[in-house]
Amino acid sequence: MHFKPLWLELLLTCLLLFSPPVWTARFSQEPADQSVVRGQRVLLSCVVFNYSGIVQWTKDGLALGIGEDLQAWPRYRVLRVQELGQYNLEILSADLSDDAQYECQAPDAALRSRRAKLTLLIPPDDPVIDGGPEVLLNAGESYNLSCVSRGAKPASVIEWLKDGLPTEGAVSVTVLPDRKRVTTRSYLPVHPVDTDTGRNFSCVTTNQAVPTGKSTTVTLNVHHPPTVTLSIEPRSVLEGDRVTFTCQAHANPPIMGYRWAKGGVVLQGARESVFTTKADHSFFTEPVSCLVFNAVGKTNVSILVDVHFGPILLVEPQPKTVDVDSDVTLNCKWAGNPPLTLTWFKKGSNMVLSNSNQLYLKSVSQADAGQYVCKAIVPRIGVGETEVTLTVNGKDTFHFTNELRCRDAPIRYCHWILATEKAFGSDIGFQMSVQGTLLERYTVEQSRPSPEGGGVLSTLTINNVMESDFQSTYNCTAWNAFGPGTMIITLEETGERQSLLLLHLKEVPVGIIAGGTVGSTILLFIFLLVLVLIFYRQRKGSESALHTSH
Ligand SMILES: *[C@@H]1O[C@H](CO)[C@@H](O)[C@H](O)[C@H]1NC(C)=O
Ligand SMILES: *[C@@H]1O[C@H](CO)[C@@H](O)[C@H](O)[C@H]1NC(C)=O
Ligand SMILES: *[C@@H]1O[C@H](CO)[C@@H](O)[C@H](O)[C@H]1NC(C)=O
Ligand SMILES: *[C@@H]1O[C@H](CO)[C@@H](O)[C@H](O)[C@H]1NC(C)=O
Ligand SMILES: *[C@@H]1O[C@H](CO)[C@@H](O)[C@H](O)[C@H]1NC(C)=O
Repeated sequence: MHFKPLWLELLLTCLLLFSPPVWTARFSQEPADQSVVRGQRVLLSCVVFNYSGIVQWTKDGLALGIGEDLQAWPRYRVLRVQELGQYNLEILSADLSDDAQYECQAPDAALRSRRAKLTLLIPPDDPVIDGGPEVLLNAGESYNLSCVSRGAKPASVIEWLKDGLPTEGAVSVTVLPDRKRVTTRSYLPVHPVDTDTGRNFSCVTTNQAVPTGKSTTVTLNVHHPPTVTLSIEPRSVLEGDRVTFTCQAHANPPIMGYRWAKGGVVLQGARESVFTTKADHSFFTEPVSCLVFNAVGKTNVSILVDVHFGPILLVEPQPKTVDVDSDVTLNCKWAGNPPLTLTWFKKGSNMVLSNSNQLYLKSVSQADAGQYVCKAIVPRIGVGETEVTLTVNGKDTFHFTNELRCRDAPIRYCHWILATEKAFGSDIGFQMSVQGTLLERYTVEQSRPSPEGGGVLSTLTINNVMESDFQSTYNCTAWNAFGPGTMIITLEETGERQSLLLLHLKEVPVGIIAGGTVGSTILLFIFLLVLVLIFYRQRKGSESALHTSH
């Protein structure tokens, strides 16, 4: 603040008091800033006191003209009331071109009013949603609904309604296609799902010119592949029961057809939404599938049936041959529903050795050799069991037998059979020799090792038994990975030959004499033979004596 000196203050007051009154012109009303909706009437006021000169209006600095009717501006008029000093400017049916700054001027008094800003409010055009009135979408594919509001001034605000309720998440962008009016575009992201068909989305656009807003609505049509539910009736069955599969589906656009498959194999002829069949145990492991299709896709749903069955042997245990002290695993697998219980035990024993598919035996001895049983029990449905042989190779697995077999006639077809039994092992070798050689009359036949572990049978057959055969030694040797085993058989000539003779005479069809008991039998036979021969000679002698006496 700065103050005038006191003397200057006094001088000015004196001048004012003593000079004649000069009525200085001034504005008693000046135009005010205004907003007006297009088409309405505008009145800009201007009242000047103690002024008798020209009054004119300017628009953005440009003089509009003198007088009441402004020729160049047909919608403009100055409403003059001279005695009141009033020069109001009236604008009819306001337009965007009227959006400007107005000033009232009294040039003779060098007066200018304040600048009044006239703001034109223009309602937006009706909003437009792209793709309307029905927007076609695909389920699961995100989409931006786009609404445009053109020609608004000021920019309009866009809001979205989903089935009549406000919804969030829209993004708006504005552009100025001309100097003053604004186009607003709003994007509303939607994530359409199957059930959105028929939903209404409204775009509501408002600005000061239309506070109540303008709106437009679209309806969604959401295309989706069939939605499928597959059900079985009844839920749980026994093998051979009938089951009904029902494929419930809805789709947009409508369903075009159904296909059925079981375990990946298409069931020809099944083309309806319902499929009925007889269930067997395969339905427990091979799913039944229903495929439903429409113009935009297909849906495949599958289901397993709770079929009660079993037990069914899936993996048969394989016989095993192992060496003593090694570890062995036996496998067996059963299927059944409801879940089965599995037990392993050795045949003839009740002791459970395992409850799993595998039976593991550590460091086996020859006592472990034998039959093992793998048994499955399906509760309330059935029981199954299978056996498997375990062979344990060891040194003492050779057992020799020898036996004598004779055909009834003629006597010369008596055979010696020398054999080994239970000579275990896959790599078994076998040799039979008679004092190191085999004569033509001798044939040696050997069976293959049998998978059941019955051993190898080697047979020495002597055709046309001769006296010398009884003086020979017979060497039967068998060997496996653990080494050889030998049996030497020597025969006592007389007894054997005589027993053969006896057998022939008695016409025994097949005689079997165990080698081990040969010795004692021979003694008995010798004794009997001697008796018989003596008796026979005596009878014959007396008979011939009778004959000769005839
Ligand atoms: C001029 O101003 C005076 C004082 O304010 C007033 O009394 C008078 O009526 C005015 N004259 C006109 C023509 O407005
Ligand atoms: C939708 O609009 C948003 C923002 O403009 C954009 O980020 C998005 O990628 C658009 N999405 C689609 C599917 O066009
Ligand atoms: C959507 O609008 C239509 C027409 O106005 C109406 O018939 C329909 O019921 C509306 N849908 C919903 C889900 O509100
Ligand atoms: C359904 O899909 C499965 C697995 O891909 C297939 O094995 C089966 O065949 C399909 N079902 C039909 C009816 O095509
Ligand atoms: C029996 O035969 C085997 C094999 O040829 C031989 O090694 C063994 O020495 C023979 N034994 C006798 C007592 O002759």
